[in-house]
Amino acid sequence: VQLRLPLLTKTPSGWIKSVLENFDFFLQDHADCERKASAFALSMVAKYPNRQEIIPELIDTALEELEHFREVYRIMEKRGIPLRHEIEEDLYVKKLLQVCRNGREERFLDRLILGSLIENRGAERFRIIYENLNDAELKKFYHNLWAGEAKHGELFVRMALRYFDKEEVMERYKWMVLKEGEIILSIPFSGRLH
Ligand SMILES: [Fe+2]
Ligand SMILES: [Fe+2]
Repeated sequence: VQLRLPLLTKTPSGWIKSVLENFDFFLQDHADCERKASAFALSMVAKYPNRQEIIPELIDTALEELEHFREVYRIMEKRGIPLRHEIEEDLYVKKLLQVCRNGREERFLDRLILGSLIENRGAERFRIIYENLNDAELKKFYHNLWAGEAKHGELFVRMALRYFDKEEVMERYKWMVLKEGEIILSIPFSGRLH
């Protein structure tokens, strides 16, 4: 089974331009995203405590995202960049959540696919970042992150396949990946991850 499901929409070049204009600002947003990714994995544990087969993977994911948060924060500390006090809502994630269905099983599947899509988008954008950065430390960091998030993208698909038919997962992914593309293109570039 193919676990690395592709995104259908490429990030336009305007995005990286907005990021490179103020990379300190990007780092602040990135740190928040990693912390929220960890919280998302834990929220899955809290919402689905009886899905025992995936609890260990969700805990591992939460720890790995927290580790990413620590690594981004270390870079920020070194550069004297503070965490942001006020965190704007992530329109991208908000809109993706609105695409998720409401039935118990449906919502469970959709949230797993949402997890995969967010990871894949993160991987795609971290790759663009490492390809465009000159700073050796940051380049290496974003290269590693790209690989890590791509792995997470596969992990959420694998979790979905434990509970749902391949056909059902693929059909839903195909629909949600289209929506994800519309959503990502609808959000103006703000120098943030999404
Ligand atoms: Fe991460
Ligand atoms: Fe991740």
